[in-house]
Amino acid sequence: MTRLIIDTDPGIDDTFALVLACASPEVDLIGVTTVFGNVGLDRTTRNALRVLALCGREDVPVAAGADRPLVHPHAHRAGAVHGEDGLSGMADTLPERQTGLVGTDAVALMVRLLDSSPEPVTIVPIGPLTNVALLLAAHPSVRSKIERLVIMGGGLAGGNVTAAAEFNVWSDPEAARRVLVEEPVPTTLVPMDITTRCAVDLSWLDRLAASGPRGATLVRLTGTYRKHYQRTLGHEGMVIHDAVAVAEAIRPGLLRTSRMPVEVECGMGPARGATIADPREHRVRGEDAPREIDVAVDADLDEVRTFLLSGLTG
Ligand code: BDR
Ligand code: CA
Repeated sequence: MTRLIIDTDPGIDDTFALVLACASPEVDLIGVTTVFGNVGLDRTTRNALRVLALCGREDVPVAAGADRPLVHPHAHRAGAVHGEDGLSGMADTLPERQTGLVGTDAVALMVRLLDSSPEPVTIVPIGPLTNVALLLAAHPSVRSKIERLVIMGGGLAGGNVTAAAEFNVWSDPEAARRVLVEEPVPTTLVPMDITTRCAVDLSWLDRLAASGPRGATLVRLTGTYRKHYQRTLGHEGMVIHDAVAVAEAIRPGLLRTSRMPVEVECGMGPARGATIADPREHRVRGEDAPREIDVAVDADLDEVRTFLLSGLTG
């Protein structure tokens, strides 16, 4: 059983990721924390609560975290991709959760869950890394309680929000740098290069819609998102970035990884938010070398799609 905390900014693919975690018998979802990102914090929090209600999960504690990046303002949200409410204009069609937020913020909830967990916990950040950077900066003692961070973010060959930067890292590069470069916590980075290769097509979505009421609801939420991906992929289908990261957290090794250092560009120029991974065979190693993390670089793409579909319909 994998104990998971998901830090999220729902978002369509975040919604798929949350449902995957809720529906997987191998997962003990011990908490959900929210962050600004695809839309503002109020909406990401409301959406997270509604998605958990859709899954019948009144029991999972939810806390809201950062409403802006650490240092610089957030230039813009992703309403054009996910809809202004984060869920293609359909957020209010989801059930409302009876259980509200816990009485603490996201960082305090994560500290409490980690401190009280009998076993190390996997944290899956699938939004900007602000909450996780704050957690590790303010509470270094919890590092030992973290089994692994499985982070959706970054792009090795370029970005989606700018030519250089992927949305989650671009949204708070200083936080991302703290987590990816400075923190000695086991980390797997799931960048958009691999998540994009795992894109699902219309027949995958049709099978999900036909699987039952929850699958049909999920597919109904994808309107705005699919229009965006029709334009960027050039065909019908969509990329469920965040669910791919949760899939790797549930089944470690589903994605093939390679160990390498990753830097984050924090300058204010056109490369702001770029992730620069160093796959050189002959790079300097040893004590002075930068920290290395596991970067997901490949997978059996059909195996991932099958895992996602059976998890979401399970
Ligand atoms: C990431 O950005 C967000 O729009 C998605 O939810 C995902 O976490 C992909 O770049
Ligand atoms: Ca997200």
